[in-house]
Amino acid sequence: MIAVSFFEVREISKRFGGLMAVNGVSFQVEPGEIFGLIGPNGSGKTTIFNLINQYYPLTSGDIVFHGKSIKGLKTYQICHLGIGRTFQVVKPLKRMTVLENVMASAFSRVNTFGEARKLAMETLAFCNLLPEQDKAAKSLPIAGRKRLEITRAMATKPELLLLDETAAGLNPGELDEAIDLIKRIRDRGVTIIIVEHIMKVIMSISDRIHAINYGQTITEGKPEDVANNKEVIEAYLGESYA
Ligand SMILES: Nc1ncnc2c1ncn2[C@@H]1O[C@H](COP(=O)(O)OP(=O)(O)OP(=O)(O)O)[C@@H](O)[C@H]1O
Ligand SMILES: [Mg+2]
Repeated sequence: MIAVSFFEVREISKRFGGLMAVNGVSFQVEPGEIFGLIGPNGSGKTTIFNLINQYYPLTSGDIVFHGKSIKGLKTYQICHLGIGRTFQVVKPLKRMTVLENVMASAFSRVNTFGEARKLAMETLAFCNLLPEQDKAAKSLPIAGRKRLEITRAMATKPELLLLDETAAGLNPGELDEAIDLIKRIRDRGVTIIIVEHIMKVIMSISDRIHAINYGQTITEGKPEDVANNKEVIEAYLGESYA
């Protein structure tokens, strides 16, 4: 019997006019792991997420979930299959309350108001956002907005969750809370691909890390090996460690 991979991107590329933002990237993610994706600004990380959930069509390559290609599906179909995501630039429904924001996501899984409210309340409790439920989403400080972004994605009940810089802009105490939440999400059985610039976060929670630069793979491996890779240090860590 051939083992079916949980999630895989195969030689994916994305061209924007004359720019190859992503150029032949391949990786596999195992169920239950936290898979880190790193690279300098503009290296193509967010574009890879936008390709995975088909926000942008692929220029070439394939994306395989549970052994089946998801290429060409609509974004909502990808969500329904069990791939959730957060946005680097958070996108709350600003005039709505925190609870209403999460309910809107919950409707991707349930049909009635009562069910959506129940799922939203459970997810808010899990993400430690229940005390903020009646506040307007736009009134939340950055840490709350980042947490709401994760809560909304979790309310779609993902099997695979894509986190795009959900720790950016947090203070040290908030960072520890964010790390704790991400670990608890994984402990629930959700597989995670995480894009993050903050080394403390990415190095401490990733099982494996895939490093890119200019849309191409530099290396992949355990956090300590990737952190010691010469090309990675030059391309990426050099910015903050030089
Ligand atoms: N819709 C678009 N149209 C044209 N170019 C784009 C578009 N989206 C991204 N790009 C370009 O593709 C490249 C990769 O961008 P991307 O946002 O994926 O980088 P990133 O690794 O997420 O960077 P950052 O760490 O700053 O978030 C950049 O040069 C960017 O300007
Ligand atoms: Mg980005």
